[in-house]
Amino acid sequence: MEHRTSIIVTLAFLCACEPSVQLTNSQVNLIKEMGFPGAPPLDPTNRYADDAGAAGLGHALFFDPNLSRNGEISCATCHLPERGFTDGLALNLGLSQGVRNTLSLLDCAHQQWFNWDGQFDSLWSQAHGPMLHPREMGSSYEHIIDRVRGEPILCNQYEKVFGLLPQPPLTESQSETIVANLGKAIAAYERKLVTGRSPFDRWVERWKQVGAPSDLAGVTLGGFSAAAQQGLATFTSRGECWKCHVGPLLSDGEFHALGAAPRNDLIADSARFGAIAKLQSNRYRSSGAHSDAAQGEQAKIVEALVARSDQWGAFRTPTLRNIGKTSPYFHQGQFATLPEVLHFYSTLEGAVTMDHHRESVLRKTDLSPDEIAGLLAFLKTLDGDDPPIQWTINPWN
Ligand code: HEC
Ligand code: HEC
Repeated sequence: MEHRTSIIVTLAFLCACEPSVQLTNSQVNLIKEMGFPGAPPLDPTNRYADDAGAAGLGHALFFDPNLSRNGEISCATCHLPERGFTDGLALNLGLSQGVRNTLSLLDCAHQQWFNWDGQFDSLWSQAHGPMLHPREMGSSYEHIIDRVRGEPILCNQYEKVFGLLPQPPLTESQSETIVANLGKAIAAYERKLVTGRSPFDRWVERWKQVGAPSDLAGVTLGGFSAAAQQGLATFTSRGECWKCHVGPLLSDGEFHALGAAPRNDLIADSARFGAIAKLQSNRYRSSGAHSDAAQGEQAKIVEALVARSDQWGAFRTPTLRNIGKTSPYFHQGQFATLPEVLHFYSTLEGAVTMDHHRESVLRKTDLSPDEIAGLLAFLKTLDGDDPPIQWTINPWN
C-alpha cells in the first residue's frame, strides 16, 4: 500500500492496557471524508423533488396496497419502516418470490444509480419498476391511474400538485405523464427518508472540530469505542474496505463483481452489464421526454454509458450506513449476519469466478479474530438516528 507514513497519528486510549491505534495521513483523509452526508443532492430531473405536496402524495402512495394487482401489496410490504425500510428476507417476496434482496430506502436519495445493478438513473423512474413488476405489485398503468382517480384523498393531493387529472379515455402520452408524476411524488417522499447522525458521525465531527486528529487522543465518545477505532483503522488500511466503501455513504457508488456464490436455484445475474441497455431504453430515463432536465448532467452521463465486459455480475457498492438494521446482506441475501460477510472478505470462501472477470481489486485479506472484532464494532457505529417519525408511519391508519 502506498500510504505516506511520514505523519503517524496516534489515538491513545483511555485504558492504558489497550494498544494504541496508529493512523497514516491518508487514513486520516479517508476518515474525514466518511462523515455525515447532510441533505441529499438536488435532483433537477424532478422539479417536484422538494415539493411538500408531492411528498405528502408520495407518502400516501407508498403505503397504498390498492396500487397492486391483488390489492394486498404496497411498497411498505417489502420496505418496512421498522426494519430500516427492508423486509428481513434474503430474497424479496411480492406476488411471488423475487431474485434479489430488498434494498433499504434509508438515505437512498443520495444515490446516483438505483437498484443493485443501477438499472434506474433517478428515484422517480425507479418507482414504476416495482408497481409494474409481475413478481412484485403486478399492476398496470390503467389500474394505477384508476386507483388515484377513484380515491378522493389521492385524487385531491394529485390535483393540488400536478393540476386536474384528464378525463378518460386517456392518450398514451397522458397516461405516461400521470405515471411519471406519481413517480416524482414517490421520490419526493423517499427524499424524506434520511437518517440523522450516527455515533461514528458524531465522533468524526468532534475530531474535525478539535483540528489535528492527535488532539483527540483518548476521546472515545459515546458509542464510538476503542474497539470501533481499531476497526476503523483496519477498515481504512489492511482490511481494504476503503477501496470501495469510501466517502459519506461509505460507498464509491460504483459497480463491482465480488463473486459471492449465487444461490444455486437462481440463474446467473448479469447485473450492471445488462442494466445499462435497460436504462438507456427506459422512457422515464433522465434524458427522456418526462425528465425535467433532459439536457442535464445526469442525462449526458446516461447517454454516454457503454457496457463493459467487466461489469458482468457487478453490483453497486452498498452504503454501510444503517447496516445494523438491514440484514441479510448482499444482492441475494447470501449472508445472514455481518460476521458471515466479514468471513467472506477474509477468506473469499465460496467465491466464484464469473464467466468473465471477478474484481481484481478484491483480495483475500486473512483478517485476524481481533481485526474482525474491531470491524464489527466499527460497523455497529454506522446506524444513524431514524428519519422523522411523521414520514415512517402509515398515513392510511
Ligand atoms: C416485492 C417487494 C418489493 C416491493 C413491493 C417494492 N420493492 Fe422496492 N425494492 C425491492 C427490491 C428486491 C429491491 C432491489 C431491486 C433490484 O436491485 O433489482 C428494491 C429496490 C428499491 C429501491 C432502490 C434503492 C436503492 O438504494 O437503489 C427503491 C428506491 C425502491 N425499491 C422503492 C420502492 C417503491 C417506491 C415501491 C412501491 C412503488 C417499492 N420499492 C416496492 C423490493 C420491493
Ligand atoms: C472491491 C470493492 C469492495 C471491497 C474492497 C469491499 N467491499 Fe463490501 N461490498 C462491495 C459490493 C459491490 C457489495 C455488494 C456485493 C453483492 O451484493 O454481490 C458489498 C457488500 C458489503 C456489505 C453488505 C451490504 C449490504 O447492504 O448487503 C458489507 C457489510 C460490506 N460490503 C462491508 C465491507 C467491509 C467491512 C469490507 C472490508 C473488509 C469490504 N466491504 C470490502 C464492494 C466492496
